[in-house]
Amino acid sequence: MSGALAEKNILLAVTGGIAAYKAAELSRQYVKAGANVKVVMTQTAESFIPAKTLGILSKQAVLTDGDRDGSASVEHVAWGRWADAIVLAPATANTLAKVANGLADNVLTETLLASNAAVKIMAPAMNDQMWHNPATQRNLQTLQGDGWTMIEPATGFLAEGYEAKGRLAQLETIILTTEQALFDGQTDGQRDAFDNQPLKGRRVVVTAGGTKEPIDPVRFLTNRSSGKMGYALAEAALAAGAEVTLIAATKRDCSKAIHLVLAPSAKEMLTAVEEAMTDADAFIGAAAVSDFALAKPFDKKVKKTSPDAHFTLDLVQNPDILKTVGQNKKSGQVVIGFAAETNDLLQNAERKLKSKQADMIVANDVLAPAAGFDKDTNQVTLIQANQVPIEIGPKSKSAIAADIIHQLVTILDGQ
Ligand code: PMT
Repeated sequence: MSGALAEKNILLAVTGGIAAYKAAELSRQYVKAGANVKVVMTQTAESFIPAKTLGILSKQAVLTDGDRDGSASVEHVAWGRWADAIVLAPATANTLAKVANGLADNVLTETLLASNAAVKIMAPAMNDQMWHNPATQRNLQTLQGDGWTMIEPATGFLAEGYEAKGRLAQLETIILTTEQALFDGQTDGQRDAFDNQPLKGRRVVVTAGGTKEPIDPVRFLTNRSSGKMGYALAEAALAAGAEVTLIAATKRDCSKAIHLVLAPSAKEMLTAVEEAMTDADAFIGAAAVSDFALAKPFDKKVKKTSPDAHFTLDLVQNPDILKTVGQNKKSGQVVIGFAAETNDLLQNAERKLKSKQADMIVANDVLAPAAGFDKDTNQVTLIQANQVPIEIGPKSKSAIAADIIHQLVTILDGQ
């Protein structure tokens, strides 16, 4: 199940109990596991732990009651929609009662009411008598009936100075429950990959990110690619048991088991790809490779001259990495490319399938609302010769990646 948190959007909702400080370590562990974390907190929670601490650890601005005025007032709706999983931890008896009854009188309860996240987890922490109170137990039952997963509080030394049930559950339990719940909600492709490791013993080379073509020592030509799609493919191939070499023009965090090679320019990427392909079973070109580079980059920083002087760049064509791999592919190697298109998606993708001698093209309409550059989601069509196109998404890039890897397995198995 490892990797179930990678690239997942987790909304950590923190309420005001003594255990609120544990939200810091919880958010740190989610981030470490590759999740995108946003924190929403009540005003009382802020008296136990500063929003700034949670903001630094989650690497995102924290939503607090101070944001309820003006332009940020609809932010709670966007955040609720963004979440793949909501984790309410620690959950006080007061907030549980509000959520169970659909109240929305602060930014946290508004956010929860506005969300239809598939995974909702609550980790209550409170005084033992509050826990055993029939009203609390009734609210917990209502919430579980509404689809919330409950992580029972632990028994231990309470802030009141005696041993009883009411402490926040172990953070490991909360993390594992989140992983399990997200895993249960995964696509067939993701589950297949995690369960069966169908790429065990296979080597997969993936490219990612937007290449950078130097103009001078301080400037470069690039594009809008963030690398998210390529990194998601590398993680999906790893989850399916492959040995993965990720050749990336853009640096992002990834699993340690992935062999990451940074190659900023198209030429550097080609060199790294050719070396990695000598013993690889499959190539997936998700990088947005610049078609052009400067014929001769400047040695020194280019200076402005007169205000009306034009500055012209002399560009030459870059090598086509996918085409080179397609032309030189050895027997048994599978080559998958992408086609980032703004019009005539399927025709252009089919043309690229032939011209680049690829086994499959992932056609990507980069103007579709939930698709393309720098988004967390994508929507693609898989094109193969003499096969009905397979439409996938819109869904998260990790779910799309798992489906592409699933298809790669089918092609490799069919050889
Ligand atoms: O990185 P993200 O922000 O997550 O965005 C994802 C993405 C939009 C970049 C990705 O889904 C995608 O579509 N990648 C392909 C981008 C691209 O360059 O498309 P293209 O149609 O220009 O190129 C077709 C194929 O040839 C691609 O596999 C590309 O990697 C490859 N190519 C292109 C030019 C070149 N000189 N060498 C190449 O190998």
